[in-house]
Parts: sequence; structure tokens; C-alpha cells
Amino acid sequence: MKKFIAVASFTAVLLASCTPKATTPTASAGPAVSTAEQLAQGKTIFENSCGKCHELPKPTAYTSVQWVGIMNSMAPKAKLTEEQHQWVYDYVVSVKK
Ligand code: HEC
Repeated sequence: MKKFIAVASFTAVLLASCTPKATTPTASAGPAVSTAEQLAQGKTIFENSCGKCHELPKPTAYTSVQWVGIMNSMAPKAKLTEEQHQWVYDYVVSVKK
């Protein structure tokens, strides 16, 4: 039993240390950008990528729950990376109603 726990936690450490490298290579360079910078990036990406096929939507026109679904369908259309998807989402829901 003790051995099993040791193996299990070793595996968890391995997974934890490998996963960020596998998915986001830049993350290993340290904390990527601050929240304020991420919001600024999200705004820029939103303004540049989300008004191409239709008018730029109003961030305040949808609830944060609606934005989850909208971003899930629009991020692939705008060819956003997972990070950009997150930043744009964080930006639109940060805009005060
Ligand atoms: C390649 C074209 C394209 C791009 C780029 C695009 N959209 Fe859209 N968007 C559509 C189309 C087509 C619709 C309407 C049909 C649908 O809902 O799929 C739509 C609908 C919407 C709607 C209305 C949804 C509703 O339920 O009323 C919102 C909001 C929206 N897009 C936001 C965005 C955001 C935010 C981005 C940037 C991440 C984006 N779109 C990028 C094509 C695009």
C-alpha cells in the first residue's frame, strides 16, 4: 500500500512537471504576462479578430455564461490559440456593464 502511494505521487509529480511544457512551451520561461497585460492582449485580439466576419460584438451584450459558448464556437473561427481564447474571454467578461 505504501509503495502504491509512493508510485502514485511520483506519477503525479511527473505529470505536473511535464504537462505545462507539452501544451505551452513558453510557460517554462516563467510567469508569462500579468493579468493586466493579458486583458490588454485580449482586447487587442478581440478588436483585431472578432470584427472580420460580422460587426465587433459588444462585450456587455452577453453574460459571462453566454460568452463561454460564444467563445467556444468563435475562437476556432478566429483561429485563436487556447491562450488567446482565454485572454479574449477574460477581456470581454471584464468589461463593466
Ligand atoms: C470566420 C468568421 C468569424 C470570425 C473570425 C468570428 N466570428 Fe463570430 N460569428 C460568425 C458567424 C458566421 C456567426 C453567426 C452564426 C453562428 O452563430 O455561428 C457569428 C456570430 C457571433 C456572435 C453572435 C452569437 C449569438 O448567439 O448571438 C457573437 C457574439 C460572435 N460571433 C462573437 C465573435 C467573437 C468574440 C469573435 C472573435 C473571437 C468572432 N465572433 C469571430 C463568424 C465569425
